[in-house]
Amino acid sequence: MAEDLSIAKGSKEEQYQNLLPQISGLLQGENNQIANLANIAAALKEQFNFFWIGFYLVDSADELVLGPFQGPVACTRIKKGRGVCGGAWAQAKTLIVPDVDQFPGHIACSSLSRSEIVLPVYKQGSIIGVLDVDSSELNSFDEIDEKYLSQIVQLLDCPVQ
Ligand code: SME
Repeated sequence: MAEDLSIAKGSKEEQYQNLLPQISGLLQGENNQIANLANIAAALKEQFNFFWIGFYLVDSADELVLGPFQGPVACTRIKKGRGVCGGAWAQAKTLIVPDVDQFPGHIACSSLSRSEIVLPVYKQGSIIGVLDVDSSELNSFDEIDEKYLSQIVQLLDCPVQ
């Protein structure tokens, strides 16, 4: 398959709609998780130029470890329940943080990060990690991001074709 991404202009929703089938294509037939997470991070970075986009993966019963990402270097380990990532894991739900300074316990890997969305990533019913997207601007994420990013992470839960 061609590895070139077609980058869409237009509304955020149009950009996600253009990207989703391309990410699906990138994952098709590949069951190596690191490769798939890496390409998802790269594709989202290329389309949206997010400040930081990447995965934290469940490494033990109470700790996440940094996975494939795009952006500045980041904290390596996050305890369950800590910060936005550890919170999304512990609560098993998507967290949208419009202003990280107002989120108690936010972990500032970079002082430039201002808003954030974190979604749990499931495989066969269990959370295997989280997808974390950070913006250098306030209020960057809403239900459109939640809708499409959750569709993107659901692609990781598909049986290998
Ligand atoms: N801010 C996150 C930590 C990860 S970095 O932003 C890459 C948090 O509070 O969980």
